Amino acid sequence: MDNHVMNTYNRFNIIVESGHGPWIVDSEGNEYLDFISGIAVNALGHAAPEIVKTLTDQASKVVHISNLFWSQPQIDLADKLAEKSGLDKVFFSNSGTEANETALKIARKYGYEKNKGKKTKIICFHDSFHGRTMGALSVTGQEHYREPFRPLIGDVYDAEFNNIDSVRELMDDDVCAVILELVQGESGILPAEPDFVKGIRDLCDEHDALMICDEVQCGMGRSGKLFAYQQYGVMPDIATTAKALGGGVPIGATIANDRAAQYFVPGDHGCTFGGNPLACACGNTIMHELFENGVLDNVNEMSGYFFKKLNGLRDKYPEKINLVRGMGLLIGVQMKKGLKSPAIEAAQKHGLFLAGAGNEVIRFLPPLNVKSEEIDEAVNRFDAALAEI
Ligand SMILES: Cc1ncc(COP(=O)(O)O)c(C=O)c1O
Repeated sequence: MDNHVMNTYNRFNIIVESGHGPWIVDSEGNEYLDFISGIAVNALGHAAPEIVKTLTDQASKVVHISNLFWSQPQIDLADKLAEKSGLDKVFFSNSGTEANETALKIARKYGYEKNKGKKTKIICFHDSFHGRTMGALSVTGQEHYREPFRPLIGDVYDAEFNNIDSVRELMDDDVCAVILELVQGESGILPAEPDFVKGIRDLCDEHDALMICDEVQCGMGRSGKLFAYQQYGVMPDIATTAKALGGGVPIGATIANDRAAQYFVPGDHGCTFGGNPLACACGNTIMHELFENGVLDNVNEMSGYFFKKLNGLRDKYPEKINLVRGMGLLIGVQMKKGLKSPAIEAAQKHGLFLAGAGNEVIRFLPPLNVKSEEIDEAVNRFDAALAEI
């Protein structure tokens, strides 16, 4: 397609005109099953009546006022996120990368207050993904993303995911933060091991460093709990979230305990659009649907169902599928070498959209309110695609 949009994405060759639930309709009237959900954004699917109502109600009152004023939707969403996360204070932004920038700045300010100019080290992990802005990119442990943009922010060290000894080797009192995804998303839906996560918490406590969990992809119910750290029984000092928080409306949030947030004062950070009433109203609707309308329960119920079905396909096609892994409705199907792209293309021909993750992994990210019949339909279409490749 030849147009004036910058060439930063490889796209499917359709123009999406509308959607409903997990379905999208293109400009020629073709209907497809969308199990990408805007890359884990559309928690309630497309054109969800709850989001449509929230948008219309809130837009008819006030959309944006800046953070020079208070708004009730922002106050309510911060209260709810603090209550359900077990953390204390929220900073709102518009995206995952901004939520992580905020976390990194909180960590650097923490280090500055504790030992000015010395406590600046940040530890991140190989194969992690934290976003595209310079700070978040600096802690993204994938060299092909970082290399063309060096010099990045300094004093960042890469450890090996699920290898606590590699963290211990880098850890000392000059570390202000360790940042990790509890399920590495972009690099292949790889969950952290429980002992590794507990080990990071202990090392951070030992060296007075902040533990930052990037919940941008695995958070907001996708793991089966509001936040994936709740699956591990470990409390971070900071959790970052975005994607599903607004049900399709851009919003990011950095949620910190008082220990981490205490040094952030007016002038340290800001965001013009961050936490505007429209986005926060949608966030409140998502929180309501997760906790009051059974969506979180649905994730857990449908997760078991979906894993069983996909493992059935692995048994049927052992020469094509390696394994199925993930958590909740964040599911990766690892294909045998060279079969990822052919399988995604064949699925599209059968009217099913899926996204890749890492080398050989295909990501299944249905809306969090997906129904078993929709999972059946997706699995049948994927089955037909696999039969062809
Ligand atoms: C774990 C994780 N962190 C951060 C980001 C960046 O989020 P955004 O694209 O909203 O800036 C992503 C995006 O895929 C992600 O998966």
